Amino acid sequence: MEIAITSSPREASRFAAQFVAGVVRANPAAVLGLATGGTPLDLYRELIRMHREEGLRFSGCTAFNLDEYVGLGHGHPASYRRFMEEHFFQHLDFRPVNIRIPDGTAPEVAAHCAGYERAIAEAGGIDVQILGIGSDGHIGFNEPGSSLGSRTRIKSLTERTRADNARYFAPGEEVPRHVITMGIGTILQARSVVLLAFGERKAGAVAAMVEGPVTAMVPASALQWHPVVKVLVDEAAASALARRDYYREVFANKPDWQRWEGAPSLD
Ligand code: F6R
Repeated sequence: MEIAITSSPREASRFAAQFVAGVVRANPAAVLGLATGGTPLDLYRELIRMHREEGLRFSGCTAFNLDEYVGLGHGHPASYRRFMEEHFFQHLDFRPVNIRIPDGTAPEVAAHCAGYERAIAEAGGIDVQILGIGSDGHIGFNEPGSSLGSRTRIKSLTERTRADNARYFAPGEEVPRHVITMGIGTILQARSVVLLAFGERKAGAVAAMVEGPVTAMVPASALQWHPVVKVLVDEAAASALARRDYYREVFANKPDWQRWEGAPSLD
């Protein structure tokens, strides 16, 4: 894992955007794995800016979102389909046919999930997967205890995640209990992963992911098996990392060819 401790979420998001833009410039037909939630919003704003001001094109790209609430249709204000339209897709030049988000209203959930996995494979696999992390260490909606080899499927949310996400729902509205999420095995197959985490609330999960044992109780720890993971955190999210001084030193002294700006390599 490559750990970058940045001065602010904005700076981390700019780095992440540089990396994603490098992947898209190197391959205009790149396949992007996308996350929702508060964490990637600055990254999405920066990619939108690059599209408007620097001519970054997404018209040949395909996007697969990580997850969706079961039971929420496209029109629901808290659906991830709506979130992505509002914060990302409507500002960019993706072809609608290339935007894939699990359908929370699919009548045959298992068949829908299998079809989602097939679609990722048919698109050639995900080139760069963007992730946030839950305060309980989840990635996608793979809650603690999820199989590290899991594929896209239905999952039940923990009370903690439902409480964390209640802010996206109207007061008094129930947060759905069930979601469709890419599995940890699905995420591990992406060619590269960019994980962002900000704020003290994420510090314990970040430390467990980077420095703890690989365990299904911290789903993000499975990323230790992945050869190309960029973890971008602010000071608060880095505060529980025992080796943070070492990560700072490594990041500040990277050889030029290994720096992230411009067109980063995927190896
Ligand atoms: C969202 C997702 C989740 C979030 C995580 C953090 O698609 O898959 O894993 O990344 O719950 O959420 P925020 O960013 O709102 O703190």
